[in-house]
Amino acid sequence: MEFGKLEGKLAVVTGGCGALGRAICKALLADGLRVAVADLERAKPEEAAASLGRGAMPMPLDVADPAAVAAAVAALRKAQGDVDVLVNNAGILSNNKTVQTEPEEWRRVMGVNLDGAFYLSRAVLPGMRARRWGRIVNICSLAMKSGGITAGTAYTASKGGLSALTFSIAREVAGDGITVNGIAPAYIKTPMVTEQLSEAQRQALLKQIPVGRFLEPEEVANVARFLVSPLSGFITGEIIDVNGGLHFD
Ligand SMILES: NC(=O)c1ccc[n+]([C@@H]2O[C@H](COP(=O)([O-])OP(=O)(O)OC[C@H]3O[C@@H](n4cnc5c(N)ncnc54)[C@H](O)[C@@H]3O)[C@@H](O)[C@H]2O)c1
Repeated sequence: MEFGKLEGKLAVVTGGCGALGRAICKALLADGLRVAVADLERAKPEEAAASLGRGAMPMPLDVADPAAVAAAVAALRKAQGDVDVLVNNAGILSNNKTVQTEPEEWRRVMGVNLDGAFYLSRAVLPGMRARRWGRIVNICSLAMKSGGITAGTAYTASKGGLSALTFSIAREVAGDGITVNGIAPAYIKTPMVTEQLSEAQRQALLKQIPVGRFLEPEEVANVARFLVSPLSGFITGEIIDVNGGLHFD
């Protein structure tokens, strides 16, 4: 596979210190991109970038804060140039269903999972448009198609919104050389599954997943890598399922 055309392009991966985010950063670095590891200060993006090695740089920010996003993207642009690739991966999980979800929790989940992707997208799109090339990849979830098997209402709705945001921006910028796609994974081997679900929930899920195992972060990262690469230039407004056969559509 020829990924060489990506050499030197600049990517921002939000939630880059997390289990999946880190795998995506590694994959993009392997393809020769420079990668800004965007995450909360407390997640230690400096340490993550240092351990990822050459080409990785820290980008501390709270994606739910529009002023912080604008400032961080402006600072990155000044230091490194325009952003070519944005992966909206930062996300928080809530398993509470409707009645148990407090309005503050609803807002918090929407703020990170949906608003954050919107703030980042609007900050990087002018630069992509000017150079007539760009890639946005949004990490959605099977939750938005299934109604949330274990995931709660705010999470499910936020990922539904993120999918609609994907479609909306994809249509808006299709003529500008920019593709916008999503990935809908289910049950990645990350703390969201290993810590936020009970052993009983995990065993029940394994029985329902036809491939009989949980998803490795690298398997999602490889799909992101494909969506970023020149190989996928005619795909836009698509949400790719990565769920081991748990759901077909
Ligand atoms: N784990 C799964 O099974 C699964 C399934 C489907 C979708 N996803 C999605 O994949 C993405 C990554 O999840 P993960 O499993 O790696 O989780 P994770 O908790 O390991 O990583 C999430 C990262 O996002 C960061 N983050 C949280 N709030 C932030 C904010 N306000 N600003 C900046 N960064 C913030 C966290 O610090 C963390 O590093 C999420 O969007 C999640 O919804 C995960």
